[in-house]
Amino acid sequence: MKKRRILLLVNADLIPPDDLRGLSEDEIEACRTEYNVLSTLSNAGHEVRVLGMGDKIGELRRVVRDWRPEIAFNLLEEFSGIVTYDHYVVALLELMRQPYTGCNPRGMMLSRDKVLTKQILAYHRIPTPRFHLFPWGKAWREPRGLEFPLFVKSATDDASLGISQASIVHDPERLRERVQFIHEQAQSDALAEQYIEGRELYVGVMGNERLTAFPVWELDFGKLSDVQAGIATRKVKWDPAYQRRHGIRTGPAGDLPEAQVARITQLAKRVYRALHMSGYARMDMRLKADGSVFVLEANANPNLTYGEDFAESGDVAGISYEQLLNRIVQLGLNYQPEWRLFE
Ligand SMILES: Nc1ncnc2c1ncn2[C@@H]1O[C@H](COP(=O)(O)OP(=O)(O)O)[C@@H](O)[C@H]1O
Ligand SMILES: [Mg+2]
Repeated sequence: MKKRRILLLVNADLIPPDDLRGLSEDEIEACRTEYNVLSTLSNAGHEVRVLGMGDKIGELRRVVRDWRPEIAFNLLEEFSGIVTYDHYVVALLELMRQPYTGCNPRGMMLSRDKVLTKQILAYHRIPTPRFHLFPWGKAWREPRGLEFPLFVKSATDDASLGISQASIVHDPERLRERVQFIHEQAQSDALAEQYIEGRELYVGVMGNERLTAFPVWELDFGKLSDVQAGIATRKVKWDPAYQRRHGIRTGPAGDLPEAQVARITQLAKRVYRALHMSGYARMDMRLKADGSVFVLEANANPNLTYGEDFAESGDVAGISYEQLLNRIVQLGLNYQPEWRLFE
């Protein structure tokens, strides 16, 4: 791999230290991804400079102009505290003719919007739970044609914000309460979907034109599913003590027939293309006992932490963490934005 000049874009409060010694467990946890990516790229011989993005774009423009990075490695999850603004930063990079890693602005915008995503998937006949949208700030209207139980979530938030057992509702009264809760807490539109009881699967996909899909991954709810519905709440996703207590773990999905694996993998690639994604992404799906699969959402630029789902499923496919990051860099360099036509 050629040595590159890489500008690592991180949120201003997640600037990784050179060394983790002396930091508390919480401090390490907060910037683990940033630290993993910085140290791995540096150890691989790349010249890496970190830029913490707050709510100003002047510094980014200056570094791009003066230092001329060959690629911007995008680890941003938001801009100025607004999660739906992350794709504008990528759009700005494109306007500056600065190559970047990960998804292009169009794919980011489409996949960030769960409703737009579902509308596009429906057009392509890709199965996704039926839904009803409850716009924030509009008067309540009784939905028609949806069967309980339903699952209520924010149309734009991610990382399982606002997701708990109470997200599953069995009657109109609870539905109305939960929609109101999402409106108030997330300050976003609320989405009520048909609740899909079943296994929780993730599929990592990488590429621009030619796509590679990683092995089908499963979030196993362990003993938790004996007492509660198996859904990925914040605790299930992020709380190690909670995960240990209930035997929650992730790994390659076992005992899926070969044809089923092929179908799920194909489905993940179709979603990637339908949403015009590039770089790398992770698809969230649910598999019902009858074998039917539903796509819940597509995550552009998924979590790249060493040892977490995306990197681990790449590792099982024979791609080490360093190779994974190098491939992401290479895909960013190869991506053909429109400005290249005018060079
Ligand atoms: N329609 C649904 N049926 C069953 N479970 C769901 C449904 N929608 C979401 N979930 C559960 O909630 C989790 C988070 O939902 P998701 O749409 O992936 O949003 P996020 O962006 O927060 O990850 C999923 O991983 C899944 O466990
Ligand atoms: Mg998800």
